[in-house]
Amino acid sequence: MKHKIDVVKTLLDALPFIKKFHDEKIVIKYGGSAQTSDALKEKFAQDIVLLHTVGMKPIVVHGGGKSITDLLAELGVPTRFVDGQRVTTKEVMRIVEMVLSGEINKEIVSLLNNHGGKAIGISGKDANFLEARSKDFKNFGYTGVIENVNTQIVDNIIEDGFVPVIAPIASSSTVGHPGFNINADLAASRIAVALQARKVLFLTDTSGVLDKEMSLITNLDIEKTEELKENTTIAGGMVPKVDACIEALRGGVKKAHIIDGRVEHSILLEVLTSSGIGTCIEL
Ligand SMILES: Nc1ncnc2c1ncn2[C@@H]1O[C@H](COP(=O)(O)OP(=O)(O)OP(=O)(O)O)[C@@H](O)[C@H]1O
Ligand SMILES: [Mg+2]
Repeated sequence: MKHKIDVVKTLLDALPFIKKFHDEKIVIKYGGSAQTSDALKEKFAQDIVLLHTVGMKPIVVHGGGKSITDLLAELGVPTRFVDGQRVTTKEVMRIVEMVLSGEINKEIVSLLNNHGGKAIGISGKDANFLEARSKDFKNFGYTGVIENVNTQIVDNIIEDGFVPVIAPIASSSTVGHPGFNINADLAASRIAVALQARKVLFLTDTSGVLDKEMSLITNLDIEKTEELKENTTIAGGMVPKVDACIEALRGGVKKAHIIDGRVEHSILLEVLTSSGIGTCIEL
């Protein structure tokens, strides 16, 4: 009996958040670093399906940096990063497309559907959802910067009751162009702004933004975040992530969270509890 009462209490605790976020869009960036074990992937899928079932509108944008790096290594293709962003040669771009659109996107779609969701996978090339230009072709190759988000396709998917799962690859207006590799964090923030999402969550492989002593910083504003970048406390893959948070906030998203994808049900812990987890960045 005690257990049953606990279940009811948990549901009642979640109720204010279910009401608050009803009908709201929540963009979830599922980092490659968080897609580690099958058990964690299952919990991720359960969380997304639960949010959708209780009336929220989750939108998944995924990364896949680790799988891309692994396949490049297997094929003997050299790869490198500058400021946390991959330098994308034409050869690397082929692999990026294969891994992101071909493998990871479909894996997440199947996972969600196997857990009772109705997921549809697209990349930014579909219906020109994401249009980009090159960031700096000489230094970054086919790494792109999003110029335009055509929301209609994703709005339709959401309105029809599906969960969009988006691979961060963008189209180019040049005929025969291979397209652009977009950092998934920056894709998530642009998508969150364009869709007027309420929240954006970044699932990664640390407990959040850490300070120099490796302790979790639970709350940050833009000024403090810039300071941590300046003194290199924030480095590597965390740089585009906090930049993405700031871009989302400046674009009207109310809160951006960097949370630990290695913790089971981290999405529900963030969305449905008052204390939340990880680092919350607000204006
Ligand atoms: N101050 C910091 N706090 C936390 N992590 C940091 C910090 N500075 C740098 N990092 C690094 O940022 C990494 C997270 O970014 P990374 O790009 O590796 O993962 P991801 O974005 O979740 O995955 P993917 O790029 O595949 O989508 C952490 O694993 C950590 O090594
Ligand atoms: Mg990253």
